[in-house]
Amino acid sequence: MANVEDLVLPSVAAIAPYEPGKPPEELQRELGISESIKLASNENPLGPSPRAVEAIKAALSELNRYPDGANFELRRKIAEHHNLPVTHIFAASGSVEVINLLAFLFLRPGLNAVFSDHSFAIYPLATAAAGGSAKVAPTSDGYSHDLEAMAAQIDANTRLVFLGNPNNPTGTIYRRAEWKQFLNRVPEGVVVVADEAYFEFVRDRGYPDSLQDHDERRLLVTLRTFSKIFGLAGLRAGYAVARPEIIRLLNNVRQPFNVTSLAQVAVIAAMDDRAHVAQTLRVNAEGMDYLENEFHRLEIPFVPSHANFLLADVGDGRAVYDKLLRKGVIVRPMHGYGYPRHVRISVGLPEENRKLTAALAEALATPPGR
Ligand SMILES: Cc1ncc(COP(=O)(O)O)c(C=O)c1O
Repeated sequence: MANVEDLVLPSVAAIAPYEPGKPPEELQRELGISESIKLASNENPLGPSPRAVEAIKAALSELNRYPDGANFELRRKIAEHHNLPVTHIFAASGSVEVINLLAFLFLRPGLNAVFSDHSFAIYPLATAAAGGSAKVAPTSDGYSHDLEAMAAQIDANTRLVFLGNPNNPTGTIYRRAEWKQFLNRVPEGVVVVADEAYFEFVRDRGYPDSLQDHDERRLLVTLRTFSKIFGLAGLRAGYAVARPEIIRLLNNVRQPFNVTSLAQVAVIAAMDDRAHVAQTLRVNAEGMDYLENEFHRLEIPFVPSHANFLLADVGDGRAVYDKLLRKGVIVRPMHGYGYPRHVRISVGLPEENRKLTAALAEALATPPGR
């Protein structure tokens, strides 16, 4: 029999699939632990917007129908929100869909994408899936994007640059001056992707909103998501803002009904739920303060974060992850991101944050192997 792996691109055959955060149901199945909490995927701990839930209920009886394939009302809502023409908006099944489509469009064997070491795991996966190669820039301090180093990686075969701001899994940001300098260094014909999944959480005044930098000349794509602040990760909805020529190409290669009907109505409702967004920001800010104080008290080094998660140096990330699992607390081990000493912890509700810090204190107090 032919080896099917020989029938595909070698970079595709070599992919190790994305490892998502463990769902609580899996912990129940594997270890019989029922009351577990999940602080592993940077989700909204408050739950979805109640308005989104109502909109979904009202739309359930229409599930026999295909969604609006043009995502018309959804795109109009997003365009209105940003005061942009609707031709600049691409609605997607999560921002990850756009990352994959951009790689599919712009990469092939012989071409490359530039991104930072220790950045979002989907950038290398999408690059390899399209047959492109990865040019990985070092970070400036072990955690933060070094935009000069990233610009230096760009060569004649570069078609895409992926930047996470804030970056996942470090929570670090780059600031306006550095970003402007970087943009001025990017040659024509390179598509810059500003992945701003955690945009709404950032309070730093120097944080650049990449939507301000779209112009007639640049090939800039801004990515935003409904999975984080809006609490709709399970529905899969995100979007890209870019010039209409790029939007047209994305439409050429997407599947015809890429955003489900439930996601479309829920997102439109959630965007009007200012109270839910405000409460989410409050819970996150208070939770972040609490975790930072507790980590100082427990002498656990962490990377100051601008998002809704923290990268903490616990000595042996995998061992501590395992111990926390057994205590019903799911965090994310970081060896896959090149941080074997770290775990990434999403900010939860107050009682979840307390459970996490208590479990962490116990885990760090017990010798390895117990
Ligand atoms: C930097 C970054 N970009 C994109 C995403 C994916 O978002 P979505 O759920 O919209 O696909 C995430 C999710 O964790 C992320 O951390």
